[in-house]
Formats: sequence, C-alpha cells, structure tokens
Amino acid sequence: MNSRLLVCDPRHFRIDYEINPYMHTETQPELAAATAEHEAIVAAHLAAGRKVEYVAAAPDCPDMVYTANAAVVRGDHVVLANLPPERQAETPYHRAWFAERDYRIVQAPYAFSGQGDALACGDLLFAGHGQRTDRRTLDLLADFLDYRVVPLRTVSARWYDLDLALSVIDADTLAYCPEAFDQPSLAELHSAGLDLIEVSRAEADNFALNLVSDGTTVTMTTGAPVLAARLRERGKTVVQLETTELRKGGGGIRCTALTLDNA
Ligand code: ARG
Repeated sequence: MNSRLLVCDPRHFRIDYEINPYMHTETQPELAAATAEHEAIVAAHLAAGRKVEYVAAAPDCPDMVYTANAAVVRGDHVVLANLPPERQAETPYHRAWFAERDYRIVQAPYAFSGQGDALACGDLLFAGHGQRTDRRTLDLLADFLDYRVVPLRTVSARWYDLDLALSVIDADTLAYCPEAFDQPSLAELHSAGLDLIEVSRAEADNFALNLVSDGTTVTMTTGAPVLAARLRERGKTVVQLETTELRKGGGGIRCTALTLDNA
C-alpha cells in the first residue's frame, strides 16, 4: 500500500482564503521553506521505495499541493472530488491527469473531499462525512469502487477531513483520535476487526495522524513522540519530518500524497 503516490509541488501554495480553522490569510507560507519541506517529504517517499508522480501546479490553485483532495483511486477507477467553491478550479487539472492515463472517471455529484475523507484498508474504505463530504457520496464510493464503506463522522471542523483524525498503518492496524468521532462512528471503528492505536488530542492537533504508511515505513510529522514510539514498538520504521509550512494551509504529509495503488 502507498507504493505509488501523486504529488504536486508547492510553487503556487498560498493562503488566499480560510476554509478550515488552521488557515489565516495573514500567515502566509514561505516559498523556499515550503519547497524544502515538500522536497524532503518526496525524498522520504523515494527512500522508502515508493514511486512518486507529479501533477503540474497551477497558478490559480493555491491549495493544489494537497493532492489527497483530488480524488480517490482504486485500480483504474477514479472518483473525482467535489471540492469547496474556493478549490473547484483544481478539478479540471486532476481530471485531465487521469484522462490522459486512461482511467475510468466519475465525479461525485455531491460534496466530496477525495481521499481526505476516504482511506482504504484492503476492501474496506473508511469514509468521512458531515464536514467536506456529503453522506450520499458514500454510496457512489461503494458502488463504483466496490468497497465496503465504513461511515465515520467527525465532530468538529478541526477534523474537516478524516485524514486528520484517522490513519491506516497496515492491513490490520489503524491509529485514531477518539475525541474526533461521534459515538456511532466509534462503534463502527471498534467493530471493524482491526487493531486500534489511540492518539491523544494534543498529538492529533499537531497533525500526527496525517501520515503515509506503506505498512513498513511510516512517514509522519514531528511533534507526535507518543505515536512515533508506539509505531516503533510495532516494528515500524518511523521517519519524522517538519511540516510547519504545510500546517499554515491546514494540512500535513498525508494531504500531499494521493494514493494510486489501492488494490
Ligand atoms: N487548505 C486545504 C483545504 O482546506 C487543506 C487540505 C488538506 N488536505 C487534507 N487531505 N486534509 O482544503
């Protein structure tokens, strides 16, 4: 898992609007620092043996570095996101990238945050709704991508995307922040038959869960020593990187990588 990733360089990354509680137009990313941060993330993917592909950055798309929101992909099937109005200019670029490579594409007719709200684990798809994704999108994900969808609802805009509250560590293991979910969602998580690692609110607020794991190596942010230690106890190689610039847009490492190899 996560051996092929789609990324976008941050040359046009800016905070032009505030669509999540972490964004403040008066706190702009610094281009050189953001570029170095992004290059370090890509280098970590490559060092872990992952393949990285690029979609070209567009000047009118200041959030395009967060490729996770483009779509969710399984095999050659793609469900394109239906993003907030501020980000809709991204979708034609994403559609073109997939069309040039002969993917079978549908676009979600209702709100959909792409992989930000759709994390695959084998045949299961953990799907967030209630923030950036309309509940009705989940039926399309189940039908078109042939997943067993586990619906999860986060309780605050702090977790506007599921990938801030939950991460897939390997085929048998999830990490999650219990405070992020309502009761029915916690029940769904506990009955999924997977091992669960609990992450504190403090570490989740540091984007601890916004990580990329291939099952062996976990690429994650600094500022989450407890989660890092628990992953090492389980035999994972943990690589921790600074994500100070990406945080200004309300994202982290997971947000910058769309998985292309979901089986
Ligand atoms: N500024 C972006 C937005 O609010 C951040 C997206 C982060 N992506 C993610 N998968 N959580 O849309």
